[in-house]
Amino acid sequence: MATKLDVSGRNLDLESAVDEVKARYVSANPASRAQYERAKQSLPGGNTRTGMFYTPFPLAIEKAAGATLIDVDGHTYTDFVGDFSAGLYGHSHPVIREALMAALDDGMAYGSSSPYEERLATLVCARFSSIEQVRFTNSGTEANTMALVTARAVSGKDLVMVFEGAYHGGTIYFGRKSAPINMPFPFLIAPYNDPEEATRLIAENADRLACVLAEPMQGASGAIPGDVDFLRALREACTAHGVLLIFDEVMTSRVAPNGRQGQLGITPDLTTLGKYIGGGISCGAFGGPAEIMSRYDPSKPGAFVHHGTFNNNVLMLRAGAAGLEKVFTPEVQVALSESGIALRDALNGLAAKHGAPFQVTGLGSIMTIHFQSEPLRSIRDIQPRDERLRQLLHLYLIDKGFFTTRRGYMALSLLITEADCAGLTQAIDDFLAHHGHLLDTAPEEAPVDVWPAAAGATT
Ligand SMILES: Cc1ncc(COP(=O)(O)O)c(C=O)c1O
Repeated sequence: MATKLDVSGRNLDLESAVDEVKARYVSANPASRAQYERAKQSLPGGNTRTGMFYTPFPLAIEKAAGATLIDVDGHTYTDFVGDFSAGLYGHSHPVIREALMAALDDGMAYGSSSPYEERLATLVCARFSSIEQVRFTNSGTEANTMALVTARAVSGKDLVMVFEGAYHGGTIYFGRKSAPINMPFPFLIAPYNDPEEATRLIAENADRLACVLAEPMQGASGAIPGDVDFLRALREACTAHGVLLIFDEVMTSRVAPNGRQGQLGITPDLTTLGKYIGGGISCGAFGGPAEIMSRYDPSKPGAFVHHGTFNNNVLMLRAGAAGLEKVFTPEVQVALSESGIALRDALNGLAAKHGAPFQVTGLGSIMTIHFQSEPLRSIRDIQPRDERLRQLLHLYLIDKGFFTTRRGYMALSLLITEADCAGLTQAIDDFLAHHGHLLDTAPEEAPVDVWPAAAGATT
């Protein structure tokens, strides 16, 4: 490999920079590579969770402790992925560990009600004022599925309004590429952060529209916060036209006590939760006023049926309750968001320092790095860039001992320290000093796909 460098030792072009960082990655990680080759025999692409895949092959993480990950080649990394926000408590947090050990000691699968679902439900209802009653599920995808079918069953209407770029789970996804495995519901896809258009579409489709499902911040499509005016307009239009408003707070519920809805003072009809709510064990939840949720009361004639072997999995219930009660108190919640804001500010300061097309968006402890300076208010504003730029930053940071994601998403855990954040900031400072000039010159890729439907069309 011929490396092309300028007089100060910087790569002359993106290709040589990527080749170099990739070659270092491949040679440093033979055991991860071998693991990937073996996994491909029994798992499609060696993978059972699409977001875990990246080129040339993903690291195989074997162990973790605190905020440190250890891979099968024996390298250690500071964990800035935080399991895409589910890993709020870090690894083997003593309180979570204690709760899980107690659950194991007490036997696990009772096939019965237990005191533990009431404990976690009480804590969730106390934390989120719009949730009078809650039901647990096994994932955020399932929580959103339940919220949608609930809205359709309660309203007797079929149409569901969602937003371009939304991610509500593996089968409820509205990114740039078409999603052939989405749930076969009629979806009305509206542009995000466009209050006028959303209001118009809600009014126009009110007869058929069961609900509007919105993330207060679009997480997967780039940590793009919803404007307060936009989210308020959704509330007003839904109220005016008898449409249920569902906030997907699977990610954003961590950003403030009472979630993003509490921070903005906007009350949805239903809320969905997930990720950290189960203390790091698979979970989801949907909840709202008793008037809606009591339709699930099995003692009532005609109650909706919501089965699920693991809905009351005691590992999840006990870890989740211990976390909310003893660790992630409202004060800690505020402090974690402040750490996230400080990190985001520091990283955005680097963009100005280097004059690089670089910015970090997000809310509280969740954020995403973008290679552009223009403001981002929806996925439409994200300029398609050469994918190798993301690869360059991702593999560069791995090489420096920081575990982030290919798409630039990061979520802080409670065990990430100020020193960890300072270390990451320094590494990105060095990256911009060394490679910042390539961010501008990299060719723009043509959009990989068109929107699956024009805004406002139903699928
Ligand atoms: C906003 C949002 N909703 C729903 C989900 C789906 O949750 P799960 O992966 O637990 O199914 C996610 C997952 O990333 C999410 O970010």
